[in-house]
Amino acid sequence: MKKYLYLIAIIILCSTITTYFYMEENIAYSSKAVSIMKKYNVYNQIDKQNYSKTLDFALNSNNFNEKYVNNYQNIDYVEVDNFITKVNTLLNNSYSNEEINDIFKYISKKNIEKLLEEDKLDLKPYYYIKNFEVDKLDKYEEYKDLHNCSLEEAVLKVNIGLDHDFYTQIEEIENSNEYTVLVNKYHSLGTYAPNDLKSLSYDSRYKLRAKAADAFEQLVAAGKLDNVYIRPYSAYRSYQTQKTLYNNYVARDGVKEADTYSARPGHSEHQTGLAVDVWSEGYNEIRESDAKWLQDNSYKYGFIIRYTKENMPITGYIEEPWHLRYLGVDIATDVVDKDITYDEYYDLYLK
Ligand code: DAL
Ligand code: ZN
Repeated sequence: MKKYLYLIAIIILCSTITTYFYMEENIAYSSKAVSIMKKYNVYNQIDKQNYSKTLDFALNSNNFNEKYVNNYQNIDYVEVDNFITKVNTLLNNSYSNEEINDIFKYISKKNIEKLLEEDKLDLKPYYYIKNFEVDKLDKYEEYKDLHNCSLEEAVLKVNIGLDHDFYTQIEEIENSNEYTVLVNKYHSLGTYAPNDLKSLSYDSRYKLRAKAADAFEQLVAAGKLDNVYIRPYSAYRSYQTQKTLYNNYVARDGVKEADTYSARPGHSEHQTGLAVDVWSEGYNEIRESDAKWLQDNSYKYGFIIRYTKENMPITGYIEEPWHLRYLGVDIATDVVDKDITYDEYYDLYLK
């Protein structure tokens, strides 16, 4: 009888030892991690069946905070710089585990950086608005209420600058030399001048940046095949030329009027060497049928009609069916497909 009791005792002992080792193995933390857990007296709070990469990283980082053990276990691991420091900051700012998971899932790196410097914000409404910026939330809300529009629209309009008047809060353009540069009444080129200007075959005084010039020649040639004869009448304009032009218009029509059809110096697409105005050959204007052809065909050669009647509230310019802006075929085609202004396109897809 005694023998059986020994046997049972031995079986119980063995199974306990096995279970213990099995559990140790199952949690998959390194012995270093386990010893840190034990040091901080949190080992008994660990869900031994579910390994958490976040917890493991926290234990192995210099920023392990024992009070957040349960949080770490429920926060999905994400590969970003200083992940644990970021998680700690968000937990300090009272974000829940779920909110933290959503933040890393839906919000851009740049926005997360800014978020870490702010008190707790309710970002749920913004998860699906990819172009929102954390430091503009108040402006979005204000614009939305004032204009009774959707949050998406408010984000887009505020990002463009439309919550304040044209030519106020002007930003200096940093990527002036890029073919995708956005120039408008909120963004100034300063005195930038391109260094790859090329003369157009029609008249060497008209110049565009190399790729735009080549594309323009192709556009003109394609027009001819369809009995559409166009020619440039203004292409690259320096800061100084634009200044003289604008000042003359102001002297003639006043600032308010001039601003509807002429850019102020530093704000003209012509200064990028990527914009060209065209007339119909033999006319001092673009004929309606030629304008229609341009509308249907320019994008195939990389140009968009930048200023249309519908775009006026956003661009601040009256309709200019003669003003072509080079963007390259892919982007020009996409802008035309999406049927939005380049100002909107830039914020949504290129920024
Ligand atoms: N006419 C266009 C807006 C310009 O001056 O650039
Ligand atoms: Zn123009």
